[in-house]
Amino acid sequence: MAQEEVFKKLIAHSKEYGYIFPSSEIYDGLSAVYDYGQYGVELKKNIKEYWWNSMVLLNENIVGLDSSIFMHPTVWKASGHVGAFNDPLIDNKDSKKRYRADVLIEEYREKLAAKIEKEVTKAKKRFGDSFDREQFVATNGRVLGYQKQIDELTQRFQTALENDDLVELKQIIVDAGIVCPVSGSKNWTDVRQFNLMFETKLGSVSSDANTIYLRPETAQGIFVNFLNVQKSGRMKLPFGIAQIGKAFRNEIVARQFIFRMREFEQMEMQFFVRPGDEMKWFKHWKEKRMNWHKAMGLGEEKYRYHDHDKLAHYANAATDIEFKFPFGFKEVEGIHSRTDFDLSSHQEFSGKKLQYFDAELNKNYVPYVIETSIGVDRTFLMILANSYTEEKIEKENGKIDERVVLKIPAALAPVKLAVLPLVKKDGLPEAAKSIINDLKFDFNCQYDEKDSIGRRYRRQDAIGTPFCITIDHETIESQTVTIRDRDTMNQERVPISELRTILSEKVSMRKLLEAI
Ligand code: GAP
Repeated sequence: MAQEEVFKKLIAHSKEYGYIFPSSEIYDGLSAVYDYGQYGVELKKNIKEYWWNSMVLLNENIVGLDSSIFMHPTVWKASGHVGAFNDPLIDNKDSKKRYRADVLIEEYREKLAAKIEKEVTKAKKRFGDSFDREQFVATNGRVLGYQKQIDELTQRFQTALENDDLVELKQIIVDAGIVCPVSGSKNWTDVRQFNLMFETKLGSVSSDANTIYLRPETAQGIFVNFLNVQKSGRMKLPFGIAQIGKAFRNEIVARQFIFRMREFEQMEMQFFVRPGDEMKWFKHWKEKRMNWHKAMGLGEEKYRYHDHDKLAHYANAATDIEFKFPFGFKEVEGIHSRTDFDLSSHQEFSGKKLQYFDAELNKNYVPYVIETSIGVDRTFLMILANSYTEEKIEKENGKIDERVVLKIPAALAPVKLAVLPLVKKDGLPEAAKSIINDLKFDFNCQYDEKDSIGRRYRRQDAIGTPFCITIDHETIESQTVTIRDRDTMNQERVPISELRTILSEKVSMRKLLEAI
């Protein structure tokens, strides 16, 4: 099945099984805004706990923070967001639709690359085993033509972006003959910059002086509290401040479900270091963060680093951790060496010293910062997309059954176990409830007695419950139950008295944390 098809099914599944709902759905939804349902909220909570513990619990020199969404408007001048947190936009005059000019160009470039792939596929069919891809793309006239177009476009595009040349961006669109996907016309406005921050007013008077912003990243709350935390916690360099919280961006091209949203959550950690030590710590966090991802067991081959060649003016190293989503390798996390840019800038704009006294060196300085920044929602999508599996199972009578199962890492799964009495009589429901009453203090449990046991297993598979405990007549006689593994569907009979130990071992987050 094509990946796009699978992705559509995943979106439908998320809604049907209480993971993600479109926001304000009864009013036809709000574009790129989503609500997390009863299982979604649990998965999200577990992702945040895994991240938080990996930072704050495992590192004595990292502490947490919860700063507010609203901040003094000058914060965003100092951070550069007022001046430069922009997307280049263009409107189509016929459809009245608005697009990001850079995205239109990138999509056009992807179309050219897809044409090359089409030629390759056709040739592969024609030549069979003797097909040599390298030779084909280096010699085929049509492929060379497309490649030339891609190279010229890329060159012009990069130069235009580097020079903030909006006139050239429009010219590229015109020269490439890019049409509006809705109207099909080439009737474009000029390109202009659009700031991504949401504005609102503080207090009752609506004047420009009262304009504040919904934060577009959580990091600035950490920078402005650097001295508060350092002094009150008597923190010594190197040390980190971790924060999880909402961020808001007025994304124009918001798509791919929860991949790019207007309201989302970030998990950010700023690690303050002595100037000159930043490359050592950049390497450290680059590895640690990849270990965090790999410990979840989604598949090591699904990750890659994307080191930035072109760095932001304040950074001296940057890399993205990319994951293979159904729509290709995309960024989930950024690791940036931000020098002393943010603290120095806040120092300048606020007029307050943001320095650290290094007793060893006997001098004051503005620390350098390594930032790790990951989106909760993107991590959620990564786990969900990777977990969604359609399986065909041969039944005992030879018939083929199908099941949809979310193979979410057990430690992160919303519901850890379902307790299912085989029948609704003979004391089995009571035995099931007594087990839940004991285990519910440690694990998120669910009771289900409706429908056949097979259908109940399918329901639990569909929400990703890693273990089902079945209560049968033997339970009453021997104080044992069967425990079914979601992924293998194997069942094992175990004493009730051992359930807590067995489950703790299987669903514990500790194993993930130990692997980092
Ligand atoms: N403080 C640095 C910073 O905010 P970023 O690359 O803009 O860096 C960090 O964002 C992470 O936040 C991204 O890797 C992504 O996971 C997440 N993110 C950014 N914009 C997002 C959006 N519109 N929707 C969902 N997640 C987003």
